[in-house]
Amino acid sequence: MGTSDPGMANPSCPLHPPALPRRGFVKFLLGGGLLATFASFIYPVLRYFIPPPVANLGVDEVVAAKVGELKPNSGMIFRFGSVPGLLILEADGQTYDALSATCTHLGCTVQYRPDLREIWCPCHNGIYNLNGGNVSGPPPRPLTKFDVHVRGDEIYVSQKAEA
Ligand code: FES
Repeated sequence: MGTSDPGMANPSCPLHPPALPRRGFVKFLLGGGLLATFASFIYPVLRYFIPPPVANLGVDEVVAAKVGELKPNSGMIFRFGSVPGLLILEADGQTYDALSATCTHLGCTVQYRPDLREIWCPCHNGIYNLNGGNVSGPPPRPLTKFDVHVRGDEIYVSQKAEA
């Protein structure tokens, strides 16, 4: 009785100073740094398995371009409501394709590659065919394909009717 615990902090003992509040602060910073590092690794993995949802376009049909605006074997980005679309005139100079331009991997904007005659995502080298099907790379789903109608000198793009 009457003896103090040798492990207890004693403000008057130089060998056992009281815990400094800054030690807790450093632990807090280290924990936050580890958590941020973990989140930066896990986020891309989660986005791969849970790709971005297909956006509500907000419109059913838009004029994407005028006839003659595109050269054969080329593509252009147009605005389809709230999302970018990709309009392609195939090398035959007759066939138009229109698709969502948002990559199904992590949401980068895709583009038409005349040298490949395919659709390419520059972010992680994802490749789609002209129907939006996956050819190679990480994208987990095809691109959404739209309908194309030429009326007069305007090229209309609309959402495909639900099957
Ligand atoms: S965002 Fe990764 S391949 Fe398109």
